Amino acid sequence: MIQWFSRSNDDPTRKELTRRGFELGWISEQTRPDMPDAKTIKAKWSGDEAIMLPGILTTAIAQYAAEITHAHQLMEKTLNGDEIAAQLEAEPYASRLAPKFPLISSVFEEHDEQCIEKLFFDAEKNHEVIAEDLWCKASWLSFHDDDASMRFRFSFGMEGYEDVAADPARQNLASELTDAIFPESAAITEHPSLNQLLENMIGSKPAYTERIIYFNAPNGGAQMHHDVERGHLGVVFAQMHGSTGWLALAKPKLMDEIQAFLALQESEAALIKVLPDIDAQHALRELAKDRNKLSKHIDAFDHELSEALMDRCPEFIQHLFAQGYGHILKPGDVLLMPQRDIKNCVWHTVFCLDDEPGEALSFALRTR
Ligand SMILES: [Fe+2]
Repeated sequence: MIQWFSRSNDDPTRKELTRRGFELGWISEQTRPDMPDAKTIKAKWSGDEAIMLPGILTTAIAQYAAEITHAHQLMEKTLNGDEIAAQLEAEPYASRLAPKFPLISSVFEEHDEQCIEKLFFDAEKNHEVIAEDLWCKASWLSFHDDDASMRFRFSFGMEGYEDVAADPARQNLASELTDAIFPESAAITEHPSLNQLLENMIGSKPAYTERIIYFNAPNGGAQMHHDVERGHLGVVFAQMHGSTGWLALAKPKLMDEIQAFLALQESEAALIKVLPDIDAQHALRELAKDRNKLSKHIDAFDHELSEALMDRCPEFIQHLFAQGYGHILKPGDVLLMPQRDIKNCVWHTVFCLDDEPGEALSFALRTR
């Protein structure tokens, strides 16, 4: 169970929830959750609930301590402005990438302000090119000056239009490229009991695609969002280093909680702070009266009214923690988030709980 506080206190385990300048309270984990059994995991997954697997990778990640240190150095040098291409042409990356994944080019995309550097690779077998246009893209998670959160995303083809479900061969090669740069990925992909649990959960051997390596930094993290995409079932998120705070709940429950919160007397004062304009407050309350409208609004690219509540309102964050939707992930913990479809997917928001960026792996889960 996670306890939320409005301000700092004497609890030595307390962690600050501050993201992009918004102070959203403090949390501490009163007790570590228990490891759920296979039956519970399956039932929760089918019921669109986020599932935490505490410490399942603790032993596995100890075997990748050197690689996790290298990843941390890659992130730090990138933050210092070092070119990623030059780093990947040096050890330990050069020998891991050769001979299968020659680095073809790297670009600084001007049309994408969040792009740090995008690197293109071919895949070769016996000196023959077997696939082109595999890429690793490093991006900022926000435009906030004091948020150094970044990620490395792996995919192929035209970004934004890539239909990963339609090209399993290149999708697999993009996953292998991730393994070459971040070998600690095997802590998930080669983990016998995690794979067994996931196979039992989805009814087929798991495959891990659309891989992203996150470095959530102090004052950073991710706003409330979902990850629904064609062809995958959900997300496996694993903390390698550092710790993160989470709220994760299926969209119908998120709507329930928005409606429940707005019905509370104390929501009035809370709302005034995040939506000072009376018309905006009124508009959000009107949306919340009609579930269809609220649903459409949340799904819209611009959903500033509910965003004010979900991402900037400490009282609403407190409300969600009090309802039991919070998690604290430490190294070795895994969080599973089903993404069945747009109506039932688990929405989630992430906070960095440390003084420096930590590393996490986020892989989409699909049947093999
Ligand atoms: Fe996500």
